[in-house]
Amino acid sequence: MGLPMTRFSSFFSSFAVLLGLVITNAAILCSGGITSSFVRLDEKAKDMPFEADVFRLPPGYNAPQQVHITQGDHEGKAVIVSWVTVAERGSNTVLYWSENSSQKYKAKGKVTKYKFYNYTSGYIHHSTIKHLKYNTKYYYKIGIGHTTRTFWFVTPPEVGPDVPYTFGLIGDLGQSFDSNSTLTHYESNPTKGQTVLFVGDLSYADNYPNHDNVRWDTWGRFIERSVAYQPWIWTAGNHEIDFAPEIGETKPFKPFTHRYPVPYKASNSTAPFWYSIKRGPAYIIVLASYSAYGKYTPQYKWLEEEFQKVNRSETPWLIVLMHSPWYNSYNYHYMEGESMRVMYEPWFVKNKVDLVFAGHVHAYERSERISNVAYNVVNGLCSPVSDSSAPVYITIGDGGNLEGLATNMTEPQPKYSAFREASFGHAILDIKNRTHARYGWHRNQDGYAVEADSMWFYNRVWHPLDDSTSGKS
Ligand SMILES: [Fe+2]
Repeated sequence: MGLPMTRFSSFFSSFAVLLGLVITNAAILCSGGITSSFVRLDEKAKDMPFEADVFRLPPGYNAPQQVHITQGDHEGKAVIVSWVTVAERGSNTVLYWSENSSQKYKAKGKVTKYKFYNYTSGYIHHSTIKHLKYNTKYYYKIGIGHTTRTFWFVTPPEVGPDVPYTFGLIGDLGQSFDSNSTLTHYESNPTKGQTVLFVGDLSYADNYPNHDNVRWDTWGRFIERSVAYQPWIWTAGNHEIDFAPEIGETKPFKPFTHRYPVPYKASNSTAPFWYSIKRGPAYIIVLASYSAYGKYTPQYKWLEEEFQKVNRSETPWLIVLMHSPWYNSYNYHYMEGESMRVMYEPWFVKNKVDLVFAGHVHAYERSERISNVAYNVVNGLCSPVSDSSAPVYITIGDGGNLEGLATNMTEPQPKYSAFREASFGHAILDIKNRTHARYGWHRNQDGYAVEADSMWFYNRVWHPLDDSTSGKS
């Protein structure tokens, strides 16, 4: 936290709140939902320079850098700790202890390295801490032998239907000045997110000549201030593919898979691009927009079995993450998610998925509960229809990367689109119990507490009432 609030800044933040309210109320009602009238300059975001303070190297010889954690098992009792050392390999041991105990434990890890064209990575360490207690604060120390650094995290509550839990939602973050603003707004949100669901496109290193992987390193240092203290759940986006045959790089996802491990084996997946976890009251399925998903493919077979494993009495909230959205009314990446939608949407409706979060389109959009599963080639029934068993689809690819905002929208706004706005921001999903979850989208221009779009989601199994906001505001 920063300085004590002065009278001026207090006035300013009140003004920002008021401005947010005025803007929200000034939204234009179209034939569909709301297209926000909030307008900003349509220009590319600028990446922060190498010398930016957020990219600073930690002090000390061979100090661990780019520290990050993610869930390490299916239930939330394990954590994967990852970090990079550059000068030498150093220790791959994590020393950890719970807040209320002097007993210290060690977890040994693995070290990997990779080359990408003319770049050679540092030593990338991954160590899984297992058998943790739920709902407990743990400290962990890495860099043993030379410069040590200590961090902490809090494990989630035991998996169960009525444990509250709060997720942050960030997508397409990159490392621009706007990305930094998004991360600051997420960290400063008074509704504290406990875990980030990240919907793909991490560093945008591939926008640089030869996919300059130094930008993977700077990104790791940039996000450390959040991801070293709370897990981010990873989804692979197109900027993770790093397929560059023109420079001899033909193995897709090489930097991503070396740097950001996920617990895919714990959910019987055979590849780190699609997997599931349980966390508190939520069952989270991560899908791969850029791996084969047609019938008979490994992902298809896995997902078919996966839905049968979800027990809504244990985890009432069924959430799916993917990179490329199925429902998107911007003139960017239009219909790119369509073939996956055709394959999987009937399963989503049948299994009453509550929420689907995607990125890819650099803007924000929230759909009504709709489905489009009646079409059989000859019947002409190919329009989305209102469907109380269907998920709400949210595009949250507005993290702020250097490519800038997607400002061009299809007109008129489709009926299924409840709210859309081309602004950078993040969202918070605050699950209260098995029936209710508070949701808010926060644009970066507002004060930290302002929700530019918000609603209560009702669980599709335990409280399947109409939760649409259209016509209610
Ligand atoms: Fe993308």
